[in-house]
Amino acid sequence: MSQDTQKAIAGKRAAQFVENDMIVGIGSGSTIAHVITELGRRVAEENLKIVGVPTSERTRRTAAKLGIPMYNVDDVDQIDLTIDGADQIDDSFAAIKGGGAALLWEKIVAVNSKRNIWVIDESKRVEKLTQYLPVEVIPYGSDQLFRRLENDGLQPTWRLDQNGNPVRTDSANFLIDLHLPAIESPQDLSHLLSEMVGVVEDGLFLNIVNQVVIGTDTDSKIID
Ligand code: 5RP
Repeated sequence: MSQDTQKAIAGKRAAQFVENDMIVGIGSGSTIAHVITELGRRVAEENLKIVGVPTSERTRRTAAKLGIPMYNVDDVDQIDLTIDGADQIDDSFAAIKGGGAALLWEKIVAVNSKRNIWVIDESKRVEKLTQYLPVEVIPYGSDQLFRRLENDGLQPTWRLDQNGNPVRTDSANFLIDLHLPAIESPQDLSHLLSEMVGVVEDGLFLNIVNQVVIGTDTDSKIID
């Protein structure tokens, strides 16, 4: 079965955690597209009453089109539940996020949520984090920062669009991806990056998630 089918199975399952009157953080990416579709269906067919808080402008548009009222994170007291995707999750529930360039808003929404659920297909469950790590940086001085990352052996590349221009995040920042063979200590790396002037946020999500919904070929499983 395809990866997208697993994402669809997991997305539909995760949307069942949403209850009436919840303020729901809504993540970004192709897995979450399935969650949004199911939430839109429930709003239309089951009269589900929720308010959504988006983790990207794209999510805001998609969810609003399906009739989900969307608020900014600063418009609400606290988010009840956030459902988001991830690029990789290791055995201790540390994750890399930001493949879809939304890591900053995703982290802001996540830390302002009472509960966080991530939705993935089976391929994203790993022993060690090995995928490139997205880092959101302020454009001013970013060439200097890039050189520092190179000198520190962190193997940076710029995230470019199809025209070769730097990708701009929803906060108008740039993205630098770090291509490490494996991240031996996510805590240490995150700490190192957080001390670099010009780094806004990194894609390591540590001590955030409460439950993970994994889509399999036949069903979904939930781990916590
Ligand atoms: C976006 C993200 C996504 O959650 C992550 O990239 C997973 O995306 P997909 O569901 O398309 O595989 O962190 O910034």
